[in-house]
Amino acid sequence: MALNLIMLGPPGAGKGTQAERFARTRGIPKISTGDILREAVHTHTEIGTRAKAIMDRGELVSDDVMIGIVKERLDRSDALAGFVLDGFPRTVTQASALDDIMTGRDPLIVVDIVVPEAELVRRLASRLICEDCGANAAMAGADGDAADAMVMPGANPAASETVAAVRAAAEPQRCRRCGGRLVQRSDDNDLVVRERLKVYQRQYEPLVEYYRGRPTFRSIDGAQPPDNVAADLHAAIEAAGGNGAIGARGVRAARSGVRS
Ligand code: AP5
Ligand code: MG
Repeated sequence: MALNLIMLGPPGAGKGTQAERFARTRGIPKISTGDILREAVHTHTEIGTRAKAIMDRGELVSDDVMIGIVKERLDRSDALAGFVLDGFPRTVTQASALDDIMTGRDPLIVVDIVVPEAELVRRLASRLICEDCGANAAMAGADGDAADAMVMPGANPAASETVAAVRAAAEPQRCRRCGGRLVQRSDDNDLVVRERLKVYQRQYEPLVEYYRGRPTFRSIDGAQPPDNVAADLHAAIEAAGGNGAIGARGVRAARSGVRS
């Protein structure tokens, strides 16, 4: 049975971090809509050029564009044996389109990563990514997990200059994966983070409501060390039937969205 996993959660919840780890251990592709858009921005495609301004305001790219991108990606052969989707769906319209795309395929397992807002703001203010390959500093290895966990003494999340911006300017670091420069993500400044969190809150309830009744929906606590979150994620996937344990009734219910 293919493991088709969706990671839900607010900005900074750790979707990308956990998706990357999980996809690597399972040998299935990690499909991150944020990464796809950032790559499109980086390579100046038409979609990238249009998306950049929207992303830099912390708003959502249109459903039509996002559904088109995901459909094309999920139809590629490497995704037929399973995938981890990070950052999609974000709206009920996207979720419904995803169900259509998944017709005839194994059910979606939906894991919602829950983290308090203060912790999200702290994480995003101190995140650095590689400007070339897009890896998180923690994944890229430069200064490792310590860098991501670090908060500068006296750092004020309300200040316009974030911890990451100050750090990137003061002590330039390189990505251990590709040698690229580590920089702050363009939408990680304080004002845009607040907008992203607001946008997320608006979409969250209806989206989670869309999935909550499915036997393959689980919530996990993301405010723990990454290894613990990874362990909870594995347990949640197993409990949701992700190791082939889901029965025929569960599969039917999961596919149709029937509440149990
Ligand atoms: P996207 O790139 O998806 O951003 P996001 O949802 O705001 O989430 P982040 O990537 O910021 O956080 P994450 O949950 O992946 O956390 P991470 O693992 O990096 O989207 C960007 C933009 O693209 C959107 O705003 C929108 O404009 C557009 N877009 C994308 N998809 C779209 C869609 N479907 N529809 C419309 N528009 C779309 O972790 C964050 C930090 O915390 C890292 O530094 C990490 O090392 C650290 N960390 C992770 N886990 C832990 C832990 N357990 N403890 C301590 N630190 C941790
Ligand atoms: Mg991410």
